[in-house]
Amino acid sequence: MAESPANTQALVEEIKQLKEEQDAVILAHYYVDAQIQDLADLTGDSLKLARDAVQVQRSTIVFAGVHFMAETAKILNPEKRVLLPSLEAGCSLAESCTAEQLAAKQEELRRQGHDFVTVTYVNTTAEVKALSDWVVTSSNAVDVVRRIDPKKKILFVPDQHLGRYVMQETKREMFLWPGSCIVHEIFSLQHLAKLKEQHPNALVIAHPECPKSILDQADMIGGTEKMRRFVMSLTEPKTILVVTDANMIHPLQKHAPQHQYVPVPGVSAETGALCELNRCPHMGLNTLESIRDCLKRGAPEIQWQPCFEAAQKVVVRSFLEH
Ligand code: 13P
Repeated sequence: MAESPANTQALVEEIKQLKEEQDAVILAHYYVDAQIQDLADLTGDSLKLARDAVQVQRSTIVFAGVHFMAETAKILNPEKRVLLPSLEAGCSLAESCTAEQLAAKQEELRRQGHDFVTVTYVNTTAEVKALSDWVVTSSNAVDVVRRIDPKKKILFVPDQHLGRYVMQETKREMFLWPGSCIVHEIFSLQHLAKLKEQHPNALVIAHPECPKSILDQADMIGGTEKMRRFVMSLTEPKTILVVTDANMIHPLQKHAPQHQYVPVPGVSAETGALCELNRCPHMGLNTLESIRDCLKRGAPEIQWQPCFEAAQKVVVRSFLEH
């Protein structure tokens, strides 16, 4: 049930006070609800938030995002307390590639005589990162792959659509894992075509986690921070069709209010039902109540795991030194 504005304001005030008492900062991804983004100390895409997390002065980070993001913040900040409002906030991509499956694939490729490096999307568990050579996000994947020794083959996990896009941009052949994001996988090409007809001068911006059929329709392909910068760079008012989680429209609207933004709908793979506002259900587990409660209880907390040590070397090399 939606909170009344007075209750929402009271919750926001309570969170601000708890934040001071707990020496905490709130980091929020662009896919969480608008009111959480507005309350956060820092907002951004996966790479920006991971880098921001290293600059934080306070002893506690509340990560309004999903599990792999909070885990990455902890990997980069072992001495800090990292809280995640709901431990259930997972990711279909992370689920699609376990450490056992990855190790088996790497073994198979080695047995076949391939000399390869493993490039892993940040949307994975720490155990998977620990088995990788590089960790990338949508915003640095192309750059990282371009720097890899051309004599080496590349195993890219787990997002096949991002992988295919990176292959196209870098002209590097890669072994692709068959994973995909439940949000980006279901954008409707048919509805996008209809919206383009209704708005003939519109620009299409799409996240590289979308299938190729959607990316072929895009004027700009990029992660969430690149989208924000792109719309800010356009001074002339435009209609922009947005092909990513619909909550992304909030930061776009806030930073480039000269444009009109239209969310492209998805069609549920299971039921065929239309999702007018296609949103990540895991990101949706971040609510003002869950943020208040985790600050009050000091839990759920991301606990340091033995595999974080190996993951840390890869993440530091990929995000902070590269
Ligand atoms: P960005 O790094 O572009 O914000 O993407 C995050 C994500 O998980 C997309 O599904």
